[in-house]
Amino acid sequence: MQIDGKVAIVTGGASGLGQATAEALAKAGANVALFDLNDQLGEAVANTLGGNGMYCRVDVTSEADVKNAIGAVMARFGSLHVCVNCAGIGTAAKTVSRGEPHSLEHYVRIININLIGTFNVLRLAAVEMTKNSPEGVSGERGVIINTASAAAYDGQTGQAAYAASKGGVVSMTLPIARDLARDGIRCMTIAPGLFETPMAMSLPEKIRTGIIAQLEYPKRFGMPSEYAGLAMHIIENAYLNGECIRLDGASRLPPR
Ligand SMILES: NC(=O)c1ccc[n+]([C@@H]2O[C@H](COP(=O)([O-])OP(=O)(O)OC[C@H]3O[C@@H](n4cnc5c(N)ncnc54)[C@H](O)[C@@H]3O)[C@@H](O)[C@H]2O)c1
Repeated sequence: MQIDGKVAIVTGGASGLGQATAEALAKAGANVALFDLNDQLGEAVANTLGGNGMYCRVDVTSEADVKNAIGAVMARFGSLHVCVNCAGIGTAAKTVSRGEPHSLEHYVRIININLIGTFNVLRLAAVEMTKNSPEGVSGERGVIINTASAAAYDGQTGQAAYAASKGGVVSMTLPIARDLARDGIRCMTIAPGLFETPMAMSLPEKIRTGIIAQLEYPKRFGMPSEYAGLAMHIIENAYLNGECIRLDGASRLPPR
């Protein structure tokens, strides 16, 4: 799908991977709506996108929030073609720690935001995409990109909830692509390794240095622009569908 002139939603667009993707999309001529809970950062990033950007306060787990925000996007830009899901949280806890079981509330919260929130946004965005006129030789109407994690495959200690949420994102990619095939809407997932964003940079310096020492090549965290670059390619390459791509420089997460 050509990006210029299209309309995109980016959840988690106020920070990190979502911000980089929103900026790349706007630079390529798309209108971009940031769905996030961080009003200050969201407004600031939207302002840098000029007339191409808007910020909507959205909790991705809320049906009402997402419906209202998609309504605002349709009112402002008139259509919706791309949905990039980057909103997520990544707090850690062990299954049993010092004799206490993992908090069920904490587990449910992570699944709610990372997995159910992703599905909530993409299902409502897809309805609007079905209304687009088909484009190009493949008759494309829309593209959905979700964000999993290397933890979906090699989750570390303390990542039971996070890995489960991201494993769910990987597993639903193909059935969603199949569900939406007749509408000309593709669904892809990116599973990043460690990236230089506020989420990863909040890890203690010692842990980050230890992780970098174990990396293959390149021996550094990924850059948000590299995630954005893959997201842009997925949008433009109509033959990518129903698959999860690891973007991790051949790294595998160690047990801890
Ligand atoms: N940074 C990494 O190393 C890394 C690695 C693998 C996967 N990921 C995944 O990439 C995605 C983006 O992560 P990031 O590193 O850019 O993190 P980040 O913390 O920089 O950005 C995440 C954004 O999501 C927003 N958000 C959180 N909960 C929300 C909710 N309920 N509704 C709406 N917005 C919400 C936050 O306000 C924030 O702006 C996440 O899903 C994360 O799990 C990140």
